[in-house]
Amino acid sequence: MLKKSIEDLLNRQIEREGYSSILYLSMASWAETEGYNGVADWLFAQAEEEKEHMLKIIRYVNERDGKAVIPSFDKPPVDFDGLKVMFDQVLEHEKYVSNSINEIVEQTVKENDFATHNWLQWFVSEQVQEESSAQEIIDKLKLVGDHNLYMFDRDIMSMRAEGGE
Ligand code: FEO
Repeated sequence: MLKKSIEDLLNRQIEREGYSSILYLSMASWAETEGYNGVADWLFAQAEEEKEHMLKIIRYVNERDGKAVIPSFDKPPVDFDGLKVMFDQVLEHEKYVSNSINEIVEQTVKENDFATHNWLQWFVSEQVQEESSAQEIIDKLKLVGDHNLYMFDRDIMSMRAEGGE
């Protein structure tokens, strides 16, 4: 049985992962309409992953005799001020999600909930990956500058094809 404080934090995380999914969907849609098809593919796939993260938590809360609450979401931004600004936002958002996961981990220690603590380690590793791939894309963008954005877009397309995060 989950302690109330853990259940509440996991429900908060359900909302945050779900919001991540629609935020990346909105970014994907923007990128597609701007002609950045590689970036759009990357973001559509990322949105799908975030939905899976949300589902993972929903299933875990219910499995542990808690009650997962399906939230409504704020409307994400519709327009983005270019690729660099958008990927900076992706990285900032992932850092925010990492902090949010860390807060739950911290609470599991306070509550001696070692099962949830152990289960959360997958998310801890996933966040390292997600921050690192956002940073990798930002680094590539710095290298290409405002030129060769077409080649950059192809490159991002191949990141997914190679099984990158
Ligand atoms: Fe599921 Fe990107 O945090």
